[in-house]
Amino acid sequence: MNTIVAPSLTTPSRKENEPLLTLDRLSVSFETPDGTVRAVNDVSFEVAHGETLAIVGESGSGKSVTGQAIMGLHRKTNGTVTGSVRFNGRELTTMSERELRHIRGNDIAMVFQDPLSAFHPYYTIGNQIIEAIRLHRPVSRRVARARAVEVLDFVGIPSPGTRVDEYPHQFSGGMRQRAMIAMAMVNEPKVLIADEPTTALDVTIQLQILNLMVQVQAELGTAMIMVTHDLGVVGEIADRVLIMYAGAVAEVGEVERVIAQPAHPYTAGLLGSLPRIDLPTQRRLEAIPGSPPSMLMPPPGCKFHPRCAFRSEEAGCFTTEPQLTPHAEGRSVRCFLPLTPKTTARDTQEPSRDV
Ligand SMILES: Nc1ncnc2c1ncn2[C@@H]1O[C@H](COP(=O)(O)OP(=O)(O)OP(=O)(O)O)[C@@H](O)[C@H]1O
Ligand SMILES: [Mg+2]
Repeated sequence: MNTIVAPSLTTPSRKENEPLLTLDRLSVSFETPDGTVRAVNDVSFEVAHGETLAIVGESGSGKSVTGQAIMGLHRKTNGTVTGSVRFNGRELTTMSERELRHIRGNDIAMVFQDPLSAFHPYYTIGNQIIEAIRLHRPVSRRVARARAVEVLDFVGIPSPGTRVDEYPHQFSGGMRQRAMIAMAMVNEPKVLIADEPTTALDVTIQLQILNLMVQVQAELGTAMIMVTHDLGVVGEIADRVLIMYAGAVAEVGEVERVIAQPAHPYTAGLLGSLPRIDLPTQRRLEAIPGSPPSMLMPPPGCKFHPRCAFRSEEAGCFTTEPQLTPHAEGRSVRCFLPLTPKTTARDTQEPSRDV
C-alpha cells in the first residue's frame, strides 16, 4: 500500500483550542407546494480534529440535510439556512460560493450513499480524480494522474494504473464506492462527511468499506462525520454519537456512555432495535412503534411524544418542546424525563398506544 503524500498546498492553520467544526443552532427549511418543510431545527454540535462523530436517526430525520448544509449544498436546492457553521474559525454559511469552492472537496469532502451521483458517467474515474486534484492544487496533469493512481491503489482498486482510465459504469458498486472514497480523500480533507457510505452495498463489501474509512482516517488524521442507520457501526468506529429525531438532536454524547445508558427514550428504542447486519435494510429499526412525524406539520410538544412510553402530561411532553440540556458528563439530552439506570431499554419496547 502506498503512503499518502503530504499535499503541496497547506490549509490555514487552525486557531488553537477551537473545535475544527462547530455547528451552532443550524436550521434548514424548504418551501414546497405543501408548505414549509423544517428539515433541520437548531442543530448544534462540535467536531474535534481527528474525531469521528456518528449521526444516527430514522429516515427523514435530517441527517443528510445537515451534512449537505455543512458543505453549503443547500444553496443548490433552495434551502433556507439559519444559524452558523464554523470551520477552522471561518463562517461557512455566509461565505461566497467562490470561497466555498476552495473548501469543498479540499478541506471538507463528502462521500455519498450513491457513488453514481458523485461521478459523471461521461468521464473516466481517473479524469474526475485528476480534476478534483487540479481544482485545488497547482500540479501538472502528469503529477495529478500519478496521485490518482496512488489513491486508487490505497483504496484497494486492483490494477489502478489501468482502471484509472475506465468509466464509472465499468466499476462494480463496491469499487465505485472505493473510488468515491479515493476522490474524497485525494486532497487530504480535514473533515470527511460520509453519508451512509455502505447502505447500497452487500454485507461483506460494507465491512470492507468501513474498514477502509477507518484506515483513511488513521492515515490522514481526518475528522469524520459518519451518517448511518446502523448503531452496530457506531459502536465500532465512532467516538461520539448524535441521535437525530425529527430534524433535531435528541441526544449526543460519548458512544460507550450513550450505548451503555441511553438517556432519551428514542435512543433506548433504537438500541432495543439494534439493526442486525444480517437483515435487509427495510427490516431494521422496526421495534419502535409508530413512525417519525411529518416535517411539514410536526406534533406540538416533544416531537417524540406520540411514540414515547414515558410521556407525561405533568412534565409537559404534550405541549412544550424540551430543549437540549446537559445531562451527565459530556452528554446532552432533549427530554423532560431522561432515562436513569433504573429504566431500561427494554421498557421502551411497548409504549402505550392510546394516542
Ligand atoms: N430539497 C428538498 N426539498 C424539500 N424537502 C426536502 C429537501 N431535501 C430534504 N427534504 C426533506 O427534509 C427531511 C430530511 O431529509 P434528509 O434527507 O436529511 O433525511 P435523512 O435523515 O438523511 O433520511 P435517510 O435516512 O432516508 O437518508 C425529509 O423530510 C425530506 O423529505
Ligand atoms: Mg440521508
